[in-house]
Amino acid sequence: MSLDPVAIRQQFPALSLSDDGQPRIYFDNPAGTQVPGSVADAMRDCLLHANANLGGPFPSSVAAGRIVDQAHAAMADLLNANSSDEIIFGANMTTLTFQMSRALGQKLSAGDEIIVTELDHDANVSPWLLLARDLGLTVHKIRLDTETFRLDLDHYASLLNDNTRLVCVGHASNLLGTLNDIPRIVEQAHAHDALVFVDAVHSVPHMPVDVQALGCDLLACSPYKFFGPHQGVLWGRHQLLQSIEAYRLRPAPAGVPGRFETGTQSHESMAGTTAAVDYIASLASSGDSRRSRLRQALTEIREYEMQLCRQLLDGLEQIPGLQVYGITGDNLDQRAPTVSFRIGGVAPDDIANALAERNIFAWAGHSYAVEPCRALGILDSGGVLRVGIVHYNDSADVQYLLDALGDIAQKP
Ligand SMILES: Cc1ncc(COP(=O)(O)O)c(C=O)c1O
Repeated sequence: MSLDPVAIRQQFPALSLSDDGQPRIYFDNPAGTQVPGSVADAMRDCLLHANANLGGPFPSSVAAGRIVDQAHAAMADLLNANSSDEIIFGANMTTLTFQMSRALGQKLSAGDEIIVTELDHDANVSPWLLLARDLGLTVHKIRLDTETFRLDLDHYASLLNDNTRLVCVGHASNLLGTLNDIPRIVEQAHAHDALVFVDAVHSVPHMPVDVQALGCDLLACSPYKFFGPHQGVLWGRHQLLQSIEAYRLRPAPAGVPGRFETGTQSHESMAGTTAAVDYIASLASSGDSRRSRLRQALTEIREYEMQLCRQLLDGLEQIPGLQVYGITGDNLDQRAPTVSFRIGGVAPDDIANALAERNIFAWAGHSYAVEPCRALGILDSGGVLRVGIVHYNDSADVQYLLDALGDIAQKP
């Protein structure tokens, strides 16, 4: 393992903040990560030196154009896209998904069928439910097996038919951590000529995400979950994007990806996203290209995070009355290092408050993962307490959390 946690932590100014002498311990990462100094520097530099709209002959506009091109290239490297033209920037994943659902809707009509899941974040459910409502589409939902915390892929196979036009599925669950077998899901969908839209918001910070290997048609993620600024990114196969009409203003670019990048984009966020991608690549110990360094760095990140996840799960197992909602035991390769749980009769909100008193940051509730909380029967009773590990957490953070939870479980 070549990641150096001390050197990594030094790059994140927020990790050295404290409140009333108590250091901040960040386990709220699934809701948004902290950023390295280089990301903030790149955004500042963009605002101070390249603050112009695109397409002008003067230096600030030329510089802004360069920043936009660099950001598309960086995201193409991160996702292993065929070209920068396959990368669409937008406000956030939710907005891009609503936008793409409307655009795709022009290809769909009443009687067509779409498939969503009982495991997904609502950003990959509601846009499609609303589209179905407007167009008279039939919606099916892949069942979540509440014993194994996995999607029931036999149920999925039974839902597919020649009317299926679209399957919308997450790569990793932001609530339970479950990783889905996307290549298998895609293969079965493609056998029926259905498209697959993947929500990769929760996987991109934790592992190499390669759109070629996944085989999907569209994939969305959010740089603020992988050490960048608040922004969304959508990847789509070039040929597919070219075949989709975008809702756009008449003078706006007609080509791909410009036709989908509505209005003036946040160039400073694009600069920050490039810096976040470069930061991740910088963690690799070798590699000839940015793509290969990204793959290597994210493979090392995965290994490091899963060691911490193992430490966390082993510790949680010792706490009386604590129930983990998610994959445990020997199958950790099938999950992300995001762990949700409840402790006996303690309301998840009360656990979050007790942790906050110790300056440990974590979210309670459904985290917009409405479907899995409903399937698990905990939607109306406060959801779960969710702890999300990223590569800037260390073993001391995990131990501090476990000690705090041990206390909370004893004195609810
Ligand atoms: C798995 C998952 N999908 C989608 C979203 C929505 O992303 P955004 O905030 O960029 O709209 C989130 C945000 O928490 C998420 O965790």
